[in-house]
Amino acid sequence: MKSLVLDRIKSPLVLVDREVPEPDNGEVTISLSAAALNRRDFWITQGMYPGIRLPVILGSDGAGIVSQVGPGVSDDWLGREVMINPGWHWGDDPSVQSPQFQILGMPHDGTFASHVTVPVESVHAKPSHLDLHQAAALPLAGVTAYRATFTRGHLSADDHVLITGIGGGVATFALQYAVAVGASAFVTSSSPEKIARAIALGAVAGYDYRAEDWHQQLKAEHEPVSLIIDGAGGDGYARLIDVAAPAARIVNYGATAGPPSNVELFKVFWKQLNLAGSTMGSPADFTSMLKFVAQHQIVPIVDHVHPLADGNAALQRMRSSDQFGKIVLATDA
Ligand SMILES: NC(=O)c1ccc[n+]([C@@H]2O[C@H](COP(=O)([O-])OP(=O)(O)OC[C@H]3O[C@@H](n4cnc5c(N)ncnc54)[C@H](OP(=O)(O)O)[C@@H]3O)[C@@H](O)[C@H]2O)c1
Repeated sequence: MKSLVLDRIKSPLVLVDREVPEPDNGEVTISLSAAALNRRDFWITQGMYPGIRLPVILGSDGAGIVSQVGPGVSDDWLGREVMINPGWHWGDDPSVQSPQFQILGMPHDGTFASHVTVPVESVHAKPSHLDLHQAAALPLAGVTAYRATFTRGHLSADDHVLITGIGGGVATFALQYAVAVGASAFVTSSSPEKIARAIALGAVAGYDYRAEDWHQQLKAEHEPVSLIIDGAGGDGYARLIDVAAPAARIVNYGATAGPPSNVELFKVFWKQLNLAGSTMGSPADFTSMLKFVAQHQIVPIVDHVHPLADGNAALQRMRSSDQFGKIVLATDA
């Protein structure tokens, strides 16, 4: 099988021919049509992730057709179009993942390949309104956005929700979910083009987070926001505390811009803010996300499809944050 292997930190991925992995007890092998990138893949290539094991095939997201089943798995799976829940061993507590929690694509070989072998319990039928490229774009970012907005953020139609860094994969799903429930959605971005695309998707307005006073503009033009979904962190986090309405919820799922250096706790407690963290999602979050996406016929925003062999160009696109939505690799190309 064709696979993109990371064998050294800060080195390009290498296209390698390998044996198709045999499914073990309770596993299936999937002949992949597509994989999708997540910022995690980039962090791992840079050595900025705990517990890195090399060499490894990166990639947490994938969709394709079940080509082989291991012992104990029903033959009914064969030939079915499926996608993978990349969050494994969540455990029994819906409020937090277990210490055994793992994400497909390191340490377990991932989806930047023509085939992948995974436990059957991580496999789900492809939503019927999506093609395999769109389905590959959904799992990791889709469930992260679902847990952040609904399970942790309690999003409802009454909310004025602000989503930061709208070019990001998780952020675009959060926007689509907010629009689907009828909330008023606002975005931030470094790009006027991405703000225009967000407005075309249903956002009310967008602001350039590089402008010193963007939060004052938002406050002057609209009601203060009751929910903030943030994947950037960094020094911009202080502006989120400023722009939040009293008693607002701020849910953070990432730190693309690094740690904040200047959080004013006085504002946090005086405004009675609720700061929350969120990571991926439980199996229940994943199935609820699939149900929601099907009910609202949400189609993931695919930014660009690269052939598998161009995986390094795809990673470069993510590194420079040029994308709007998900970057997909055609693994059968
Ligand atoms: N906890 C979890 O389970 C989980 C899951 C998925 C991702 N994450 C983390 O969440 C973050 C986003 O992930 P992703 O895969 O959606 O990433 P992505 O697609 O790479 O998104 C990156 C986006 O971040 C935005 N950004 C960069 N600097 C910013 C800043 N200073 N302020 C506001 N926005 C900024 C940019 O938006 P514009 O282009 O619009 O400027 C950029 O397009 C990453 O740090 C990732 O590691 C965490």
